[in-house]
Amino acid sequence: IPVELFDLVVFGATGDLSQRKLLPALFHRDLQGQIPPGSRIIGCSRRSLTNEAFQAFARKAIEDHVPEADRPADVMARFLERVSYVTADAAQDAGWAELGKLLKPESHRIRVFYLAVGPDLFGPICDRLGAYHLVTPQTRVVIEKPLGKSGASAHALNESIGKVFKEPQIYRIDHYLGKETVQNLMALRFANALFEPVWNSGHIDHVQITVAETLGVEGRAGYYDTAGALRDMVQNHMLQLLCLVAMEPPTSTQADALRDEKLKVLKSLKPITAEAVPNVTVRGQYRAGAANGGAVKGYLEELGSATSKTETFVALKAEINNWRWAGVPFYLRTGKRLPSRVSEIVVTFKPIPHSVFDGQAGPIAPNRLVIRLQPDEGVKLWLMIKDPGPGGMRLSNVPLDMSFADAFNVRNPDAYERLIMDVVRGNQALFMRRDEVEAAWGWIDPVLDAWAASSELPKQYTAGTWGPSSAVALIERDGRTWYEDQDID
Ligand code: BG6
Repeated sequence: IPVELFDLVVFGATGDLSQRKLLPALFHRDLQGQIPPGSRIIGCSRRSLTNEAFQAFARKAIEDHVPEADRPADVMARFLERVSYVTADAAQDAGWAELGKLLKPESHRIRVFYLAVGPDLFGPICDRLGAYHLVTPQTRVVIEKPLGKSGASAHALNESIGKVFKEPQIYRIDHYLGKETVQNLMALRFANALFEPVWNSGHIDHVQITVAETLGVEGRAGYYDTAGALRDMVQNHMLQLLCLVAMEPPTSTQADALRDEKLKVLKSLKPITAEAVPNVTVRGQYRAGAANGGAVKGYLEELGSATSKTETFVALKAEINNWRWAGVPFYLRTGKRLPSRVSEIVVTFKPIPHSVFDGQAGPIAPNRLVIRLQPDEGVKLWLMIKDPGPGGMRLSNVPLDMSFADAFNVRNPDAYERLIMDVVRGNQALFMRRDEVEAAWGWIDPVLDAWAASSELPKQYTAGTWGPSSAVALIERDGRTWYEDQDID
């Protein structure tokens, strides 16, 4: 889809997100010929920099994050020509008039304000954008989590942005929705006749969603300690994945059609009462252990605090109170310093109703559909088949295995590449609507409250293991086990 000329203003332009993700993503899109000549990328932050100094910063960000083979000198030169800089501070008037002067001659263009800053600055920046009349009908604003720390603070944040921008102008990023494989969930479910007829409580026993990381908090302890895994991963990424698995077929892929269906799922989540919290949630915190081939510190040592109760691991059992999913648990787990980096969705079907085979055939495992989101993206469908040879009817569980890397020999674009261009195109389908964010918090809040009120500490787990043993107990109590892929090392 062609992209119109645009001006993109990045607040927090010298920060981590801009350096690691936004500038490299924009460069990749330029390499693909998707940035129309004349479009401008304007860095903005309170650091006083010249255009040349910011261009040097952008060059370094690209050199650090884009492979050499993908950065021919002519594209680098053309990209840097689009880049300029304005010094402006959300708390002061200096710089804003200058930004206005720069933007004004191109007022007809699509204008994007990307707020790559902490949420405490969302309101003040929007206020200035309004006060300096920088918001045209063609203007969009992009924000990213943390979108609040609770339902109430998310609501307040939405209110302050909503004073200046209307909902169709607001793009709330959940970068998981920009991942190719996450979008592929839609294709798998709705472009194949095979799955949808069995995609319900009549045929599915339970669903597991795992997002495991080997990394620790990596210098982000300041932020992370105020958040924890439930806010950092479950409220957003994991609930979005759950919605895509559980939602009804939308009437189209149009943004609101999709978001309406996701919202219905969020609203159908069975509330977790304070009494249920100890039974259906597990919070863990890693202690020293081994990861990525070496010894690593525990969370408290990394943080330099002996008292933090922040969880670096969560496992929970979610239930969806609707016609399709009644009685089908969704087990979610996510954590830092786990043994492998793997994100996957595992749909376990019900056992066969009756076996025609005798005891020699061996056990018959239920079918499992495993959607691997990262790394080694692909889909596996575990089937029972007959062992080859004359030894009688013996059955084995073997996967039909599709690897995206083998099937399509192409580079997997980073989520931000897709998402930034969708903002420019005006497509909100992969962005969270206000009511979705608030509904997700509404479900999370009681768990956070119950944890905060509890005197219990998070369960310790050794770095490099699959979380506390209570996470295993959570699922085994129900007679089920966490899926373990033979390919995971
Ligand atoms: C971010 C979280 O949203 O997602 C991080 O804040 C986490 O803590 C990251 O590491 C995981 O993203 P990805 O794309 O590496 O799976």
